[in-house]
Amino acid sequence: MTKTLILTGGSQGIGQKTLQKFVEQGWQGINISRKPTQLPGVIDLEIDLSATNWVERIEKELLTRLPDSSILCLIHNAAALIPDRVGMIDPVNFEKTLSLNVIIPSTLNNLLLPRMSKDSSILYVGSTLSEKAVPGCASYLVSKHAVLGLMRATCQDLAGSGVHTCCICPGLTDTAMLRERCQHDEKLLEILKKISLAERFVEPEEIADILWFAANHPVLNGSVIHGNLGQRES
Ligand SMILES: NC(=O)c1ccc[n+]([C@@H]2O[C@H](COP(=O)([O-])OP(=O)(O)OC[C@H]3O[C@@H](n4cnc5c(N)ncnc54)[C@H](OP(=O)(O)O)[C@@H]3O)[C@@H](O)[C@H]2O)c1
Repeated sequence: MTKTLILTGGSQGIGQKTLQKFVEQGWQGINISRKPTQLPGVIDLEIDLSATNWVERIEKELLTRLPDSSILCLIHNAAALIPDRVGMIDPVNFEKTLSLNVIIPSTLNNLLLPRMSKDSSILYVGSTLSEKAVPGCASYLVSKHAVLGLMRATCQDLAGSGVHTCCICPGLTDTAMLRERCQHDEKLLEILKKISLAERFVEPEEIADILWFAANHPVLNGSVIHGNLGQRES
């Protein structure tokens, strides 16, 4: 049976490396993001998941391509990070963040679960901030805690379906999201590297490897997997 990865946010960073990994291993790869991945062998659906017509486009451009039932791995990877703090959270940005990071993954589950046969998986990309807190990114932090909750609900509600689920939580990973968050301040980036016990950032390929492992090992169900090189506690 064909195995297909459907991943959001594959145009760069962790998502792009994940698509590359799965395609190298013989899976069909489908990316959903605004820009294309430009990876050979990947089908790019250039869709803005924040646009009002995204469900219609998924129905037309994705569901019509899929067989009635096949082994799918759905990875919820696209996310927004808009810096903010409690007391000054812009409700519009809060809603946007919750929508892209939590509600849209849930809607994609609704759309794709009927097509998932046994041995399929739903993997959520969480964050260290799915379980911890730091100042200055309140909306994102709340959304990443919610992602973990959605994964746990997925595990319980899909019992007996043969579909397994995990939340993979990257630590600080060397991608555009991290560099933009630090406004490309090299001094700050050097300081942040020291949060990890290895004194370096996680590479996006390392998270791709964990996602690959999780997709292929149903024993990991309801699991929260931190990929952060170990983090300094004080
Ligand atoms: N980097 C880190 O340090 C870190 C740490 C912990 C967790 N994470 C998590 O890891 C995941 C990947 O992050 P990353 O670091 O690889 O980020 P990234 O390089 O900024 O990539 C984010 C991806 O999300 C897509 N995206 C954003 N808004 C979208 C929209 N409206 N519609 C469709 N796609 C959209 C982007 O594609 P387009 O711009 O082409 O639409 C891009 O491919 C996220 O869930 C993030 O929270 C990252």
